[in-house]
Amino acid sequence: MLKPFIAANWKMNKTSQETEEFIHSFIPLVKDISDVDILLAPAFISIESASRLLKSSNVLLGAQNVYHEESGAFTGEISPDMLLAAGCSHVIIGHSERREYFSETDDIVNKKIKLARAKGLDVILCIGESLEERESDRTFDVLDGQLSGSLKDLSLEGITIAYEPIWAIGTGKTATDEQANETHVFIREWLGKNREGSENVRIQYGGSVKPENIKGLMSQPEIDGALVGGASLKPDSFAKIVAGASGK
Ligand code: 13P
Repeated sequence: MLKPFIAANWKMNKTSQETEEFIHSFIPLVKDISDVDILLAPAFISIESASRLLKSSNVLLGAQNVYHEESGAFTGEISPDMLLAAGCSHVIIGHSERREYFSETDDIVNKKIKLARAKGLDVILCIGESLEERESDRTFDVLDGQLSGSLKDLSLEGITIAYEPIWAIGTGKTATDEQANETHVFIREWLGKNREGSENVRIQYGGSVKPENIKGLMSQPEIDGALVGGASLKPDSFAKIVAGASGK
């Protein structure tokens, strides 16, 4: 059994002050939960203040993106070394919003993961199909392409996969527990066929996860956690999701 992993992707929400207020309320709510890995991924500009407050807590810190070069003339970008120095242990790479709005391809995602891993950051790799792809029965082909492209020449060490069907993100439409599990089974089998150590990789589900549906999702054998957007923005709601994953 893999330790459940619940991560908050705050996207472009919360100032540094709002981040601090969240953390002050959130830590006491989850301080006794030791059987779930918990992670917050605030905006870049809030990472340093979050890091100070999360030190010596049971909550990990991650970023939502990173660049694939070590340093240099890349205006506006952030390197893995900067994230590590600011206190991050994790980075989310390949989120569908980055793929869609910032033209991130599997090739770029692959370069980002390679450098992040080489520097020692753990990675949450996001994959997922659109509604059109699901409705035309192309889900597994799409995931196969994303996995082969993003993980090219990489081992699975330090990698978590987040399966986020695009049609379930921010829409209130969750994949059914069975639909999500079935796709996780496909991902687990893909990893097993193509890489060593697949049994240790956690596969999170993401897309309209909330306190009301976390238990059902976590009761599925291949769902090892969740990557949560909207419902992670309030301390109570996110703490309930963490509690819902405890005891798996
Ligand atoms: P929501 O939980 O708001 O649907 O977002 C999911 C997500 O994209 C997390 O990365």
